[in-house]
Amino acid sequence: MKIIVTRIIPDRGLNMLRGAFGDASVVVTRQDGPIPRPELLKIVGGADALLPMLTDRIDDELLDAAGPQLKIVANNAVGYDNIDVPAAQRHGVIVTNTPGVLTETTADMAWTLMMAAARRVGEGERFLRGGKWTCWSPMQLLGMDIHGATLGIFGMGRIGQAMARRAAGFGMKVIYTDSFRMAEGAEKSLNVTYVEKAALLCESDFISCHCPLTQETKHAFSTAEFAAMKSTAVFVNTSRGPVVDEAALAEALKAGKIFAAGIDVFEQEPKVHPALLECENAVLIPHLGSASVETRSRMAAIAAQNIVACLRGEAPPNVVQG
Ligand code: GLV
Ligand code: GLV
Repeated sequence: MKIIVTRIIPDRGLNMLRGAFGDASVVVTRQDGPIPRPELLKIVGGADALLPMLTDRIDDELLDAAGPQLKIVANNAVGYDNIDVPAAQRHGVIVTNTPGVLTETTADMAWTLMMAAARRVGEGERFLRGGKWTCWSPMQLLGMDIHGATLGIFGMGRIGQAMARRAAGFGMKVIYTDSFRMAEGAEKSLNVTYVEKAALLCESDFISCHCPLTQETKHAFSTAEFAAMKSTAVFVNTSRGPVVDEAALAEALKAGKIFAAGIDVFEQEPKVHPALLECENAVLIPHLGSASVETRSRMAAIAAQNIVACLRGEAPPNVVQG
């Protein structure tokens, strides 16, 4: 067997693959950074399985380079917008992701960004470290309350629902929009109310994005959306960068159309729009949503488990249909 893992991942995943197929079958292409495309195209030839990162583009060209014995692409992520799933299906290749395990960890991070942006934590830290703090001040770095506010959830999947559960502890009202409405019983038990996007924009004090990146969600937040939001609103994105028009977000932050933003994902990672970097009221972190020790280890194990099942002729647990 030849199993290509494009980056060093936690041992739990690598050990499962090595245990099942032998050390020699598992090729880890990179320890330190993304594998350059030409190298990946070369090394993937003859592979039975591929365990890529969300930074690796999997398309016709790559699938052709891999050859006909490739059976599975087990993405080391829940999001799989880096993979052309119809192309994989045309090549007879199964695509899997890592749902479930990163739900709570990613919601923790969205919540962290929400609070940090609302209470100006990044700005305050820069202020203190910059030696600018001379005295406690009644008017200094005032932010927005989280408790009792209205949270608007854009995309009520697993992570969106985990946000709604957190919001209950803060006494927040939760509204949501999604292309699928939840069953009434589920809405009731989560204490959430479905609204159209227009209402979500103008009624929310906080808006957090938890949708996948698709044709429909690309630039779901642009100039018109930020203009429709409250000038006191805090916007959070831990989903995928292209869901947000970054230039429009920077403009809205600068013009005071919204109060602040907490952003984990960017349109052209690792690049960040220069105008956004200038915004004091943006908390910016480098795609860390699922980055806890335990969760990254579980993600690697799930990706490995999908490969083990597939190469043994069993049904992998996390097949995506695109
Ligand atoms: C991370 O962004 C993921 O999709 O798992
Ligand atoms: C991610 O797992 C989601 O469905 O929100």
